Amino acid sequence: MRIEKPVSVSHQILAEYVREGDIAVDATAGRGHDTVFLAGLVGAGGRVHAFDVQAHALQSTRSRIEDSGLKAEVVLHNANHARMMDYVPALDIPRISGIVFNLGYLPGSDKSITTEGETSIEALDSALRMIKAGGIIVVVAYAGHDAGVKEAHRIHEFVRQIPQEQFCAYVYQPLNQINNPPHLVAIRKH
Ligand SMILES: C[S@@+](CC[C@H](N)C(=O)[O-])C[C@H]1O[C@@H](n2cnc3c(N)ncnc32)[C@H](O)[C@@H]1O
Repeated sequence: MRIEKPVSVSHQILAEYVREGDIAVDATAGRGHDTVFLAGLVGAGGRVHAFDVQAHALQSTRSRIEDSGLKAEVVLHNANHARMMDYVPALDIPRISGIVFNLGYLPGSDKSITTEGETSIEALDSALRMIKAGGIIVVVAYAGHDAGVKEAHRIHEFVRQIPQEQFCAYVYQPLNQINNPPHLVAIRKH
C-alpha cells in the first residue's frame, strides 16, 4: 500500500471490501467524487445511496455520475445522514459492504453548512448497524477548523467505545504537517 493522503487511502481501503453487485453508502455526497468511486466498485448490478443536506451538492453529484457513464444505480437522498436508516430500504441493508463519510463543509460553498459532531455520531451509529459482516466504514475527518476539531474529538470518543468483539477501528493520521490536515478513521465489522 502506498502512503497517500487520507482521501486516497480511504478509496484504497474501500476497493478492498466493496465488490461488484454490492450496495454502498456515501453519507456526504458533496460534489460526488466518493459516490462515483463507489459506483465504479459496485458496477452495473450494484447500488449506491448518497446523502447530502444541500440540493445543489446532489445536483453536482448527479452530473458527475452522468458524465462518468457508470452503470450502477445511484439513489440520491436530500436528507441528513443521521436519518440514513429511514431512507435505505430494509432489503438493501444486508448487502451494504462500504460506507464513506467525508466530513466538513463543501469546498467553495457555504462553510456554515457543515457536518456536526452530534449528527455525525448518530449517522455513524446507524452505519455500524447497517454495515454487513466483513464490511468497512471509512471516515475522513477535518480537524483544521474549530467545528472540525470538536467533531473529530467526539468521533474518536465514540469510536473508542465500539465493542472490539464486533469491530476493529484504526486511525491513519499525518503527524508532521501544518494546519491539521485531514485524517482517516476506518472501522471494519468482523
Ligand atoms: C467535505 S464535503 C463532501 C465531499 C464529497 N464527498 C465529494 O466527494 O465531493 C461534506 C458534505 O457534507 C454535507 N453535509 C453536511 N452535513 C450533513 C448531514 N448532516 N447529512 C448529510 N450531508 C451533510 C455538506 O453539504 C457537504 O456537501
